[in-house]
Amino acid sequence: MGFAIRTERLRKVYPSSHGDRAALDDLTLDIPDGRVYGVIGRNGAGKTTFVRITSTQLALTSGTATVLGHDVATEERAIRVRIACVPQEARPLYFLNVEEVVYLYLKLRGLDPAEARARTKDALEQLSLTEFRRRMVSHLSGGLRRRVLCAMVLASDAEILFLDEPTTGLDPIARREVWHAIRRAVRERRTILLTTHYLDEAEALSARLALFERGRLVLEGTPEELRARVRFPYRVTVQGPFPASELASYGRVSAIEGGSLVFAREAEARELARTALERGLRVSMGPVSLEDIFLDVVGKSIEDEGPGAEPTA
Ligand SMILES: Nc1ncnc2c1ncn2[C@@H]1O[C@H](COP(=O)(O)OP(=O)(O)OP(=O)(O)O)[C@@H](O)[C@H]1O
Ligand SMILES: [Mg+2]
Repeated sequence: MGFAIRTERLRKVYPSSHGDRAALDDLTLDIPDGRVYGVIGRNGAGKTTFVRITSTQLALTSGTATVLGHDVATEERAIRVRIACVPQEARPLYFLNVEEVVYLYLKLRGLDPAEARARTKDALEQLSLTEFRRRMVSHLSGGLRRRVLCAMVLASDAEILFLDEPTTGLDPIARREVWHAIRRAVRERRTILLTTHYLDEAEALSARLALFERGRLVLEGTPEELRARVRFPYRVTVQGPFPASELASYGRVSAIEGGSLVFAREAEARELARTALERGLRVSMGPVSLEDIFLDVVGKSIEDEGPGAEPTA
């Protein structure tokens, strides 16, 4: 296994930024090939900036970034033919129909007509777009347009797919079709750089994850490694009356509808679950979700910055 993308002390300051807070700061990251790499973080954390720099659409300020062994600053042509991108905000060409727009994209990437046709048909089927294939892109709903963009990129022969919030605005069925297509791309040994605000999606697909906060990398690793890094890796919900003062001795407590949610270490979590069951209360226990980790880590970072901190976008 090699690395598809590597950055070292990557920094980006937009010329127009107010003050000089960097959009990305001191970012050193190795993204392995042939997997899904998830990048998560709040609005303004720097995810799109990272995608745009590593897909050679935006110049970095300092540090280095290499993609498939090529330097983004000097070898962008060598990189561009081997990558494809679904940008956060983009629409496919309006004046073509769905089939034409996917086919044309593949032809422009240099595929021969027969292969472009076969890949177009396959991608439209995968994303349930076949019934819309003759419809003008301008007549599609927003979610369908997004699906067309995903189809174009997933149908391509690119080795790295940059997907910046590919499933935002998609219905739950379409979202899972995109997941399915992403998993297939991974089986073809392609690398996917995925950003998403759907943490269930990030968790379901990513072999590794990076959490960005205010342009910095605050957590990185496999989902298991991330879980092992938090103080309370288990969550226990207790439905019914359980004295709050007693609960606090097990871990961090928050109130939920009809009961309490407690984040705890494993031994305390088991002990709490057993005690609550003995008292005849309803209990559920499991490892923390990626969302729990996100709220914990990012919540602490917001507290640390204090009320005077500059809000992100
Ligand atoms: N063209 C630009 N000019 C100036 N500042 C910018 C520009 N684009 C982004 N920024 C700033 O850079 C920071 C990172 O933005 P970025 O779009 O990378 O965040 P993001 O993590 O993708 O957020 P979101 O989840 O909202 O998509 C923000 O503070 C943003 O305001
Ligand atoms: Mg973004």
